[in-house]
Amino acid sequence: MGRRVIISGNWKMNKESAGAAELVKGLLADVKNMSAEREMIIFPPAIYLKEVSEMTKGSKIKTGAQNMYFKAEGAFTGENSPKMVKDAGAQYILIGHSERRHVFGETDALINQKVKAAYEFGLLPMLCIGELLEEFKAGKSKDVCKKQLVEGLKDVSADQMKSMVIAYEPVWAIGTGEVATPEIAEDIHKFCREVLTDLYSAEISSIVPILYGGSVKADNAAGLIAKENVDGALVGGACLDAASFMGIAKA
Ligand code: PGA
Repeated sequence: MGRRVIISGNWKMNKESAGAAELVKGLLADVKNMSAEREMIIFPPAIYLKEVSEMTKGSKIKTGAQNMYFKAEGAFTGENSPKMVKDAGAQYILIGHSERRHVFGETDALINQKVKAAYEFGLLPMLCIGELLEEFKAGKSKDVCKKQLVEGLKDVSADQMKSMVIAYEPVWAIGTGEVATPEIAEDIHKFCREVLTDLYSAEISSIVPILYGGSVKADNAAGLIAKENVDGALVGGACLDAASFMGIAKA
């Protein structure tokens, strides 16, 4: 279909300066061996974002922040603004990751404000969606994903959607080793694309990359990415080691 294929790595709250630099060096040494059509995005902790963005400048590796607030500046202790994320040299912003939703209580309404702020300040959003284990067991995966898409994308224009990236991450698969089968992932991704067709158009829906995340490893990545509607991966645990992340990038 000619959609972008993106391999992305969410470091979460891992690595300190030395480890961050070592990981980036490892990736820089090998990223030329990744297929030229693929893109790589890494999301280091905000405190190392500038350092990592400087190291990766001019390479195939793009950077993003794992979170931000939606205001430009002000009395919001502990938060980083979209302007700061940009100033640190990042292009992307991860929004609505399951840990933001379920550990820090972010609502779809707040996530929507962050998505809109990303566009307002010239950052490219990667919007994460996905259902909890009990919702999966109750057969509600599609309802949950639809709600998170509809509410997260409220007031986002068709033109803005051209640079949107969606990541489907079933919460039961994150950090558990319980990867979704390629068939489950494909079923949900296809459904999400139908939701985007209803919200926008078939054209917009066909452009937006939908990545899968949740226990992606070098040995299961190829089967997932081979599916028509799975356009890459958002990787947590397995992105903390250069060889393992590159194994996925080259899968
Ligand atoms: P995992 O995390 O690869 O460790 O399951 C994925 C994520 O949370 O983005």
